Amino acid sequence: MKFGERHVIGITGTDAKGRGCGEVAGRPACVHFTLPGEEVEASYVSRRKGVVVLRLEKVLRPSPHRTEPRCPHAGHCGGCVWQQHAYPHQLDLKRDLINRSFEAQGVPLRVDRVEPCPDLWYYRNRMDYCFGPRGELGLKEPGRWNAHVNLDTCFLLSPEAVLVMDIIRDYAASTGLEPWDNRRRSGFFRYLVIREGKNTDERLVTIVTAEGELPESRNLVGRLGPLATAVYHGINPTLTDISVSSRLIRLKGPPYLTERVAGNAYRIYPDSFFQTNTRMADALLHQVIDYVGQEKVGVLLDLYCGVGFFTLGLAGTADRVIGVEADAGAIEAARENATLNGVTNAEFIDAQAEGLVWESARPDTVVIDPPRPGLHPRVCEALLRARPQRIVYVSCNHRSLARDLQTLRDGFRPVTASALDLFPHSPHVETVALLERQ
Ligand SMILES: C[S@@+](CC[C@H](N)C(=O)[O-])C[C@H]1O[C@@H](n2cnc3c(N)ncnc32)[C@H](O)[C@@H]1O
Repeated sequence: MKFGERHVIGITGTDAKGRGCGEVAGRPACVHFTLPGEEVEASYVSRRKGVVVLRLEKVLRPSPHRTEPRCPHAGHCGGCVWQQHAYPHQLDLKRDLINRSFEAQGVPLRVDRVEPCPDLWYYRNRMDYCFGPRGELGLKEPGRWNAHVNLDTCFLLSPEAVLVMDIIRDYAASTGLEPWDNRRRSGFFRYLVIREGKNTDERLVTIVTAEGELPESRNLVGRLGPLATAVYHGINPTLTDISVSSRLIRLKGPPYLTERVAGNAYRIYPDSFFQTNTRMADALLHQVIDYVGQEKVGVLLDLYCGVGFFTLGLAGTADRVIGVEADAGAIEAARENATLNGVTNAEFIDAQAEGLVWESARPDTVVIDPPRPGLHPRVCEALLRARPQRIVYVSCNHRSLARDLQTLRDGFRPVTASALDLFPHSPHVETVALLERQ
């Protein structure tokens, strides 16, 4: 097949990346921005891992679930690959993706529905907008590391965040410094990270650059004015295309952003993880509390605890709550957050979950919320040895969740699972599973 060659393809399913799937010349194929049941014309782009990747050219027969996207960048931008999917249909597809993962691993659980997000727009509290080589500022096309979409609007964070983006784009152009170019692996301006306290009206802005000084930074802070309660210059001197800074220089405001969820206040530092949908984080916490149960236990262990979101939210359910996290900065923030909220029974351990010495923390209940790859085999082994009464597993990746539940089957019975939509217009979904000791 040649680049640009056109094919007509019937879309029969959806993959975990949210692409519509079908077949071209007897080979598995996928096209972004398409829905099951559609017939589309698409052009050949590449073949990756045996799958033919095509670009949508024309929808020949639309699905009844296709809808008019709100954002003019939908159909190009990787931020919302499902904006053309009607929202109830998005939820059905997510439910099916989770159940398919469970089925594929032989996990005897199914979710009936995905709890919808009440806000379909401006639901995120963090966005990492990237610079492109021609001064673009926005997001990338899905699956394309060097195709930038210059966003003049975005409905994910807030209208104010779009104003911040405009100011930073103009400012970067006015300095005459080059934006980062992923092909040449050089340039200065790399990322704009905006975080918002949805319940506190705070906004923390970090301009991430390569090594060097930020020109006229005072002037910039002045231009941002009340749009930013805190401003940082972050430096990523590496060649890796990430928004994480090795060094942070504070230009304005407090060193952290404060957010409130379910009665607790959380201090969040520029690079700490925090659940990106504040309103649904509240629902997620309540789901976890429900699975943890009414009966107060001795020790609750919260693995991968971040800045203590679940640890503090669950402080009332155990005599001792212990959070474990590999990011030392997040652990410091978690301790600060415990003090801030008057929680006196929380301890925090700065360690990798797979390296934890369990003898010091024999738990009755374990809450786990790992990053996308799921649990390290040593964590599964430690859980099987420690045999807590109950495990509540929170996951942003149902495939690694299903694999881990299967690994844990020797010691733990999967009891039930539920799903919550923290990420409308994307195939991502949060799943919570309850396991009990066999
Ligand atoms: C999905 S986040 C969950 C954070 C937290 N539970 C929350 O709700 O805010 C995963 C966390 O795991 C941490 N992490 C990544 N690898 C780790 C490891 N090997 N051991 C412990 N923590 C790790 C990350 O720094 C991140 O804070």
